[in-house]
Amino acid sequence: MAYESFDRRIKIAPSILSADFANLGAECRAIEAEGADWVHVDVMDGHFVPNITIGPNVCAALRPHIRGVMDVHLMIAPCDAYLEAFARAGADILTVHAEAGPHLHRSLQAIRALGCKAGVALNPATPAEAIEHVLDQIDLICVMTVNPGFGGQAFIEAVLPKIARLSEMTAERDIHIEIDGGVVPANAGNCAALGADVLVAGSGVFKGGSVADPSVYGRNIHAIREAAEAAL
Ligand code: DX5
Ligand code: ZN
Repeated sequence: MAYESFDRRIKIAPSILSADFANLGAECRAIEAEGADWVHVDVMDGHFVPNITIGPNVCAALRPHIRGVMDVHLMIAPCDAYLEAFARAGADILTVHAEAGPHLHRSLQAIRALGCKAGVALNPATPAEAIEHVLDQIDLICVMTVNPGFGGQAFIEAVLPKIARLSEMTAERDIHIEIDGGVVPANAGNCAALGADVLVAGSGVFKGGSVADPSVYGRNIHAIREAAEAAL
């Protein structure tokens, strides 16, 4: 378990959905060397979202290439049958969608019982109140600022008030607020000012760079972090 303890420092979690899929191990090592705090892994099943990405086997293959936190975002439905496989694959944080099925409380309990940190993701249309009764079960809330399924989409500004509401609801708790989708330096400050501490960025980090030239990744990560921290 690479996740050590809770803190509210700004953390940048590049999403490897925008990485070179033919070279994922090297890409993970490169973003960590260039300053990534966590590695965000998007799991899609072609059912809950209209795209298919990777499963537990690829996560297991990537684990030795990720020194820090492996933050696994499950865009799958149903999810319970796969939680153990992702936990065994080395996920530190396992996030399920509130919309993925009728038994969110049970799924979150199962994730913690497997020794992982439990996260819940909310699609743009899902209100903050959807998780009001499971706050004791969660370590992270992933606020989708795009409709899940693809990288490179535009940030949905209408979601911003939800970040403020969730910060209010979790002010006394050790719960991370993670923003996922369309994060760039221009909107990172707003997200941080409203209470987010984890910023996922796919195209915002990987654009223009490569394993051969990872310094671009570093500059992109730094620009997002700087914009976020400047707003605090
Ligand atoms: C979308 C994923 C995101 C996505 C972010 O469904 O959950 O993590 O990869 O990519 P960008 O930052 O390009 O929107
Ligand atoms: Zn994601």
